[in-house]
Amino acid sequence: QSPELQQMYDAHELLCKFYHHLLVNTKDGQEALEYLLKRGFTMESIEKYKIGYSLNSWDFVCKFLQKRKFPLDLMERAGLLIKRERDSNFFDRFRHRIMFPIHNEKGNIIAFSGRSLGEEDPKYLNSPETVIFNKSKTVFNFNRAKKHIKKEQRAVLFEGFADVIAADGAGVINGIATMGTSLTEEHVQLIRKSTDHVTICYDGDKAGIQAANRALDMLQSVGCNVRIAWLPEELDPDDYIKEYGAEKFKNEVIEASLTYMSFKMRYLRLGKRLNDEGERLRYIEEVLTEISRLTKAVERDHYLRQIANEFSISLDALQQQQKQIFYSMQ
Ligand code: CTP
Ligand code: MN
Ligand code: MN
Ligand code: MN
Ligand code: MN
Repeated sequence: QSPELQQMYDAHELLCKFYHHLLVNTKDGQEALEYLLKRGFTMESIEKYKIGYSLNSWDFVCKFLQKRKFPLDLMERAGLLIKRERDSNFFDRFRHRIMFPIHNEKGNIIAFSGRSLGEEDPKYLNSPETVIFNKSKTVFNFNRAKKHIKKEQRAVLFEGFADVIAADGAGVINGIATMGTSLTEEHVQLIRKSTDHVTICYDGDKAGIQAANRALDMLQSVGCNVRIAWLPEELDPDDYIKEYGAEKFKNEVIEASLTYMSFKMRYLRLGKRLNDEGERLRYIEEVLTEISRLTKAVERDHYLRQIANEFSISLDALQQQQKQIFYSMQ
């Protein structure tokens, strides 16, 4: 371990403690704390995730780190400070934000994500890419959730860390999330190392469903058995738990998550008017393409019958066309 990297970790650890202290024990942090509690965060989750608050100041962190003999140029490379062009002075990157520490797999804090208290942009300000923080490899909460993922043989993948934290409060302790970026091959490899069962639980909006479809294909292609939770359109998991509570979330969202084909059929239906003949035929063709990807004959038969029943088409015709699609895919 190089001393520079160690100093970067140490600075993050120290700041995390300080941000947390500001949030829970000081008048400066009161507005942020009230915001969090109003949103449904509990003191328990604020403690567990060491959520904090960064002061509304340009140089507080700068002075804090300087006093403790951290070289400021190193702290800039760690993403904590920004160097001003004009006079080469340093100033604080995170100001007046709710601070979420981000850990690596070993549990070192490698970055922060700062949420604005209101609706100002950007909603989340993340640490930049640094020698210790690579977004496309970092999975939020993996360090804590790993043992639960292995034990339960399932990971639950969320879109945002507010969702991971809310789900944890609801008893879903094997939750993880990417860092605002879409899922990468590196994330998938990391998840796959610990389990081959994943439940995707993204936001219920259009963007969430599209991202879920993409994540499904990626996870499936490395041999994961994937289920997909489908939330009401206007809600994300965090909102859902706040509105309907933990039990309903576990029973009617996580436990009721869809299998690969059920998700694909519902996904392919989106925006199609199935009483229009052309759109109906296109839907059937797209479903047949998905059925052609299934490796188990029994599963193919099951869904072919379902389509045959729903649209009053002969099973024979569906089977023929599905075979054609299968051979054209080879
Ligand atoms: N994100 C980001 N920058 C933004 C918006 C989102 O980095 N301006 C990332 C964050 O990691 C966030 C995730 O994308 O957790 C999901 O975005 P979104 O659904 O908009 O945020 P929520 O997690 O629902 O956050 P909140 O409940 O605080 O609004
Ligand atoms: Mn504390
Ligand atoms: Mn979203
Ligand atoms: Mn969301
Ligand atoms: Mn949310």
